[in-house]
This record gives sequence, structure tokens and C-alpha cells, in this order.
Amino acid sequence: MTNSTNKQINKSASKNILITGGAGFIGSHVIRLFVEKYSNYHIYNLDKLTYAGNLENLNDVASNKNYTFLKGDITDETYINSIFNKYKFDAVIHLAAESHVDRSITNPLEFVKTNVIGTMVLLNAFKNLWKNNFKNKLFYHVSTDEVYGSLGETGLFTETTSYDPNSPYSASKASSDHFVRAYGETYKMPYVISNCSNNYGANQFPEKLIPLFINNILHNKSLPVYGDGKYTRDWLYVIDHAIAIDLVFHKGKNSETYNIGGFNEWQNIVLIKLLCDKMDEKLEKPIGTSQKLITFIKDRPGHDLRYAIDASKINKELGWTPSVTFEEGLTKTIDWYLDNNKWLNNIVSGNYKKYYERMYDVQ
Ligand code: NAD
Ligand code: TYD
Repeated sequence: MTNSTNKQINKSASKNILITGGAGFIGSHVIRLFVEKYSNYHIYNLDKLTYAGNLENLNDVASNKNYTFLKGDITDETYINSIFNKYKFDAVIHLAAESHVDRSITNPLEFVKTNVIGTMVLLNAFKNLWKNNFKNKLFYHVSTDEVYGSLGETGLFTETTSYDPNSPYSASKASSDHFVRAYGETYKMPYVISNCSNNYGANQFPEKLIPLFINNILHNKSLPVYGDGKYTRDWLYVIDHAIAIDLVFHKGKNSETYNIGGFNEWQNIVLIKLLCDKMDEKLEKPIGTSQKLITFIKDRPGHDLRYAIDASKINKELGWTPSVTFEEGLTKTIDWYLDNNKWLNNIVSGNYKKYYERMYDVQ
């Protein structure tokens, strides 16, 4: 299907691309890939720098000529309209979101504001700018497999699985996906959506399972396992997600959805024990030391039993396949956190928040 008529975006033309949420975990990897690979693109990274945004993630590309950081909130209509009018973004890759399920349980409204209203503000700005001619324009919405709800012991999420979100996070992402599709149908706005499984890798905020547990092991703190630990997630190395986003952006068909995942399911407790043993090995402690930190705690309300992605469409149509095995990806991830202890400590101490003031000379 990848004939030229299906391509949304011509790689050789110069263009202005807005990437939202680029100071976050996945966004920073996408920004790096695009800034380094496409010197003919100017990449604008729009980020509010919430607790999850960390410009230290982008130290290495911050001074590139084809990169500009814009500090702003996607829910701020006036600001968003002003930057669309100023920079005339040819395409948007939208990652900015509130992304942590546990926070969505304690503060659901914040998720509706950012994930739903923020997406709407971007959609409106993009539609209003190009409505007279959408040729070679694209709105790429980055979403999650959690919109499909929970699987039982068997089965996989395909692109046609019905939406059935269970957490305020997944409900807000599902809602934003629907609005993107609705803009495609109603205003003929070109779009693609991808729904990816759980990511892991460098620069992930240590509130999500893998970096939280690495950090806790380093500080000899307990490892809080929700419920009986028999929940299953499908893990993908973040760089493989960024590579998939590049492919979908350039070769994905208009108005299509692509599921992204590594066919890599792990029950939480099995993954946690593997992580503990790998950490013991790296820290030269007797195997079994870190496992002693495992503590079963009260379950997360509405905890989805199992996520698992059928990634055959992106594999068959765009030729994407993960570049690393889970064993390799997990080892690279652990090595990164051990080598970047300062990054972790800056987050734990809150020092990372001062980076923007230092870099951008603001009070
Ligand atoms: P993250 O929480 O690490 O980063 C989110 C970024 O968005 C941060 O830099 C934050 O400052 C920014 N942001 C938040 N609210 C904003 C606002 N109102 N205006 C501007 N910027 C704002 O998230 P992540 O894990 O990198 O996820 C990125 C995207 O990928 C999200 O849309 C998420 O739903 C999706 N996704 C994540 C995963 C995963 O496993 N992490 C899997 C599939 C899909
Ligand atoms: P998480 O990284 O929060 O991702 P998501 O909820 O989006 O899948 O959690 C991954 C799994 O690990 C999930 O089943 C919840 C579980 N978990 C724990 O058992 N303890 C924890 O402290 C965290 C953060 C997650």
C-alpha cells in the first residue's frame, strides 16, 4: 500500500513541524529522531513543562539549527492560534498529554483539560489554518492501546477493536481519538492515529513501573506491586515507538489507525522479578537481594487485567518491526538509568525544574 499516492508527507520538501509534549518521555525521543534525521524540517517542540516535562531530555539537540523550543499550554487557545499563524505548521505530531493512570484517578479533570480540550484546541487551530487547502498537511495523533479497555486471558487488540476505556486517563485519550477522527470526517482534515502499548526506555519519569522500580532498588526502597501482580502489559522499547511514528508519519495512509506493539507480553510480577535479578547482577549483589523489596499493596481501582497489541497491520503495510528484543531493550534501559544517576536524582530532588530558568534566562 505504500505507493506514493498514499504518502502524506514528502520527505524531501522543507516544512515546519509542531511536535507537542517533546520534553516528555516519548516526545523527547521523537524530537531527537526528527531533528537529527530531517535537516530540511524545522521542528518546533511545544511543551508546558508540567512535572513530566524535562528539557534535560533534549540537551543534545537543544542548539540544533532546525530545532526551536516553545513553552506553552495546548489548552491556551489564544497562544496556540498565535503560534499556528506565526509558524504555519505543515504538520502536527501530537504527544502532549497527562499520561499517568494513577494521577488520572486522583485528578481526572486535569486529564480532560489537557487530553481532550488541549487536543481540540490544536485540531481547531490546524483546521482553521489549512481548511481551504489541506494538501500535504497532516495531523498525527499519538495515542495508547488503553483506549481498547482490558483483555481477558486471550486475544489481542486490533485496529477494529471497540473502544472500551476504564480509567479517566484512557477515557480522555479515547475521547481525543474520537475528536481527531471526527475532524477527519467532518472537515476532511488529513490525519493518522497510532495506538501503542506500554513504552519503556531512557528518560521515562520515575512514576511509571520500570523507572520507579529501578530508582527504588537503587535507594533500597520497597517495590509496591498492585494487587497480586498478575496483570499483563505488552512492553515496547521507546526508540522503536519513535521509529514507528516516523514511518506512520511519512507512509501511513490518510484517516488510518495503526496499532504499535512488540508482541511482548509480561505479567507484572514476572517482569518485576526479572528486573530485580538484572539489577542485582549490575549492582553486583547476590541474586535475590532486590526481590526482597517486593511488597504487595492495595490494588489500583479499575486496574485493567491485560493489554496486548496485534501489530500485524503496521508490520505488513509499513514494514515496521521492533529493532531490539526485550532482553536487549531492558538491559539498555537499566544501563541508561545507572549511567544517568544525576538525571534521576534531579527528578527526585525537583532540580530538573530549574533547568528551564537556567537555559532560557527567565525568573
Ligand atoms: P509524559 O507524561 O512523559 O510527557 C508528556 C509531556 O506533555 C510532558 O513533557 C508535559 O510537560 C507535556 N504536557 C502535558 N500537559 C501539557 C499541556 N497542557 N500543554 C503542553 N504540554 C503539556 O508522556 P509520555 O509517556 O511521553 O507519552 C506521550 C504520549 O504518548 C501521550 O499522548 C501518551 O498518551 C502516549 N502514549 C504513552 C505510552 C507510554 O507507555 N508512556 C504508550 C502509548 C501512548
Ligand atoms: P504503569 O507503568 O503505571 O503503566 P499503565 O498503568 O499505563 O499500564 O503500570 C504498569 C503496570 O504496573 C500496571 O499493571 C500497574 C502496575 N504497577 C504496580 O504494580 N506498581 C506501581 O507502583 C506502578 C507504578 C505500576
